[in-house]
Amino acid sequence: MRAIGLVLFFCAVYIMADPIPDSFFGRFKVDRSENFDEFLSAKGVGFLTRQIIKLASVTKVFAKGPAEGSYTFENLSSKKNVKYDFKLGEPFTGEGLDSTKHEITFNFKDGEVTEHHKRLDNPEFTPETYHYTMSDDNKELIMRMTNNGITCKRFFKRQDS
Ligand SMILES: *[C@@H]1O[C@H](CO)[C@@H](O)[C@H](O)[C@H]1NC(C)=O
Repeated sequence: MRAIGLVLFFCAVYIMADPIPDSFFGRFKVDRSENFDEFLSAKGVGFLTRQIIKLASVTKVFAKGPAEGSYTFENLSSKKNVKYDFKLGEPFTGEGLDSTKHEITFNFKDGEVTEHHKRLDNPEFTPETYHYTMSDDNKELIMRMTNNGITCKRFFKRQDS
């Protein structure tokens, strides 16, 4: 009896897992970065490519998806537009920016959305996680990434829609 109670309890906790708060929904355009050059450099990105990446305009769009408990996330740039439709905690296969297949999982915990990428065609490549939080005034989406011990942040300003 006690075991069944415990199972029901954990099911309930799972079902009630926090949804992504409304403050995350909207359209956000990159405004500035902290430590981005050092981050790219530590990833082995060459000087010229770094300049191009830093100058590129990137827009992120978070929205509720068509199905109950689903979300959509877009990463828009002149290089490529990527759109994912997902449920929290459920891995799916999507195209990465490098045009190869990635296994991607989104989660939400403690006010932070995480986007985890595992490259299916390149298993030796270290998986990457992007962390997203909202600024206190809900006007900026802050993305944080760490690689080789170097952490960088990119700030995306909410666009009027
Ligand atoms: C979003 O697009 C930018 C610019 O093309 C790219 O550098 C970045 O890696 C992309 N981010 C994700 C999570 O795909």
